[in-house]
Amino acid sequence: MQKSVYIKTYGCQMNVYDSARMADVLAPRGYRRAETPDEADLIVLNTCHIREKAAEKVYSELGRLKRIKEKRLAAGKDATIAVAGCVAQAEGAEMRRRAPAVDLVFGPQSYHRLPELLDRARRDGSAIGQEFEADGKFDTLPEESASQGPSAFLTVQEGCDKFCTFCVVPYTRGAEFSRPAAAVLAEARRMVAGGTREIALLGQNVNAYAGEAPGKIGGGNGGGGNGGVWGLGRLIRELADVEGLDRIRYTTSHPRDMDDDLIAAHAKVPALMPYLHLPVQSGSDRILAAMNRKHTADDYRRTVDRLRAARPDLALSSDFIVGFPGETDEDFAATLRLVNAVGYAQAYSFKYSARPGTPAAEADGQVPEAVKAGRLAALQQLLEAQQAAFNHACIGRTMPVLLDRPGRKPGQLVGRSPWMQAVHVAAPDGRLGTIADVAIGRATANSLAGRLADAPAAPPRDRVEEVRAA
Ligand code: SAH
Ligand code: SF4
Ligand code: F3S
Repeated sequence: MQKSVYIKTYGCQMNVYDSARMADVLAPRGYRRAETPDEADLIVLNTCHIREKAAEKVYSELGRLKRIKEKRLAAGKDATIAVAGCVAQAEGAEMRRRAPAVDLVFGPQSYHRLPELLDRARRDGSAIGQEFEADGKFDTLPEESASQGPSAFLTVQEGCDKFCTFCVVPYTRGAEFSRPAAAVLAEARRMVAGGTREIALLGQNVNAYAGEAPGKIGGGNGGGGNGGVWGLGRLIRELADVEGLDRIRYTTSHPRDMDDDLIAAHAKVPALMPYLHLPVQSGSDRILAAMNRKHTADDYRRTVDRLRAARPDLALSSDFIVGFPGETDEDFAATLRLVNAVGYAQAYSFKYSARPGTPAAEADGQVPEAVKAGRLAALQQLLEAQQAAFNHACIGRTMPVLLDRPGRKPGQLVGRSPWMQAVHVAAPDGRLGTIADVAIGRATANSLAGRLADAPAAPPRDRVEEVRAA
């Protein structure tokens, strides 16, 4: 029977990939995607636990969904509410106590069991899935996958063993696990066959990737297991040979795991895009130590120098936390100095949010909210100025743009530059999914606009004046 599922995704790209895979798991059961929760038999919230605000959003959404569920049940329709993702993993059964409308709770390493969990929820009134490690998941997920479009995510690594003192991820995603290289290559080939041109390899610590190499005998989905281990640099070089895969990216990286082979890949692999998200969190060595990042600000600057030597046009982005416990004005000034020294094309910055169960939440020297807000505003002002300067420097250049979605206006497409900028361009629908050279004419704080380089140029200004005068 035709049924429908509505999936709402919060948090990072890994959740975006997981949501797509949940839909793949449900497709053989007759579920198609619904656009709104009102028309769905099954509602899934794929949640994020990283900051308090992210987790709280889920409970306010559940209040709204409870009313939708009641309405549907009164009309004799199905209405199952499931909470997935990192809040589900962190809170488990507790979620049902706080929000009794929830039928099903399952974490990031349990969604391959979704059909079975749904059956159990129907039978017993509720079900919980809280596997902690990803090793069983990928073997069970279906090969069949709906296309994510021209630009797609592919999870190659899960979990985190780093235990930064502010972060919940090691507790919600479990231990580091890398998928075998043969499975990654096979999935990439299927994606390309389905129309994907750009793949972003995902992992909480993607550059800690250490996947079983494809075996000399066997190969296949699981790999033969007698070829050793591949790091991310090797995986990227092999992916670059996949016919039709034009662009490769990876995210998120830890500065400590930026090894020589991966840096060399930036020099040697043209398909590896010249843009890297390399979170540093702070520019103060004292704070970096308290965060358990295990690198200094100078280590980070040296890594950036080596990357830029390998790929001179590399643009960087980063994450920053302000107001970590014990952060002084002097520590914060060091963060601003690091930002000035590196120069970012883009960045995310956050006020420190104390997360239950993490070491920093118990630390002395919690920073008052007003101080955090002041520092965040100052940091964001600097980062926004750098981003605007980076975008403005693109005016007058022609760059390849992967046109991956329709624009808001008819006759307009939107794409991504090699440096992750959104580029708006007048182009026919037939160009969707292709890479086109675009001459950049305008820049805003966070996007670019231009015209197809192979389209006739707009009439020069004096011609326009003439036409107007006529
Ligand atoms: N794996 C990535 C980060 C994942 S979380 C990495 O190692 O960089 C994404 C970002 O959220 C982090 O980089 C950090 O800047 C921010 N973040 C994580 N925990 C936070 C907290 N407790 N308060 C504020 N920001 C946090
Ligand atoms: Fe969190 Fe640190 Fe792991 Fe990133 S490396 S996911 S910030 S613990
Ligand atoms: Fe959030 Fe979990 Fe990603 S906590 S950032 S959804 S790994």
